Amino acid sequence: MSIRTVLTGITTTGTPHLGNYVGAIKPAIEASRGDGVRSCYFLADYHALIKCRDPELVHRSTLEIAATWLALGLDTDKALFYRQSDIPEISELTWLLTCITAKGLMNRAHAYKAAVQENLEKGEDEDFAVAMGLFSYPILMAADILMFNANDVPVGRDQVQHLEMARDIAQRFNHFFGDHFVLPEAVVDENVALMPGQDGRKMSKSYNNTIPLWLPEKQLRKSIMRIVTNSLEPGDPKQTEDSALFAIYSAFASAGQREDMKQAFADGIAWGAAKQQCFELINDELATARSAYEELISEPARIEECLLKGARRARELTVPFMQQLRSAVGIRPLV
Ligand code: TRP
Repeated sequence: MSIRTVLTGITTTGTPHLGNYVGAIKPAIEASRGDGVRSCYFLADYHALIKCRDPELVHRSTLEIAATWLALGLDTDKALFYRQSDIPEISELTWLLTCITAKGLMNRAHAYKAAVQENLEKGEDEDFAVAMGLFSYPILMAADILMFNANDVPVGRDQVQHLEMARDIAQRFNHFFGDHFVLPEAVVDENVALMPGQDGRKMSKSYNNTIPLWLPEKQLRKSIMRIVTNSLEPGDPKQTEDSALFAIYSAFASAGQREDMKQAFADGIAWGAAKQQCFELINDELATARSAYEELISEPARIEECLLKGARRARELTVPFMQQLRSAVGIRPLV
């Protein structure tokens, strides 16, 4: 069996929440333990600059996200774990790719098109407040992926178009300069249920309905008690469909626990009791890692060292590969 390279990036613009944990972090860490994979996970801090002009937020988020992955047990001797901005070859490759990417391809990117649409609706110039970073961001993402010749890229549905663009860009480069890049594939996990937030909509920072992953126990409990339910009384049978509480519980439960909770709903469990069970389940899963997280976050030097080690290992691949690519485009010593 040939080894496949799995790669994904995490934009450093926020505090990890339960939705990130269930939908991305936990499956990624589990996948990295398997044989036959080389995992590359990185903090996409250049991507953060596209949406965020708050230096403290980018900096703090980098620390929190790194501490999260380490506290949850990512084995950084096995997986490559690095910060994008520590790999200068990524920005160098971004330029080589920028030079062959059709502007028309970027015009079609959803994020850019949405910004233009919003401007037109407001009667503004179509490119009002659109930075080049937003416009050409799929090229940076392509460089992240192609730099490591990733085969599989686990992403959310919203990123699938960017993967198609990365393939397109890779093919074009290969066509002009020879077969250098593997064509990456998006991996969208259909089984990972979209985790709702407290109000039942998808858990997302933009809806302000997230439950942060590392809340202290008391606040975690409070936050779970705030999940929106309906006015059914204890003893009234309750539906599991459309119940944010049941969905959040399920994301952490074993099949057996899920069945039991379903039965409890049918038997009319009180909302408060169901929430208490939900809190206990989540808290039990996170308690040990939470202590590890708190310890790590108070020692940024250890995290920094770990990231620099990751970058050194990553650059053992990227430096020679970049040399090959420079040479392919004609940038090489004269003698
Ligand atoms: N753009 C991705 C997101 O917002 C993050 C990201 C940056 C990424 N570079 C990547 C994901 C490379 C996969 C591969 O979610």
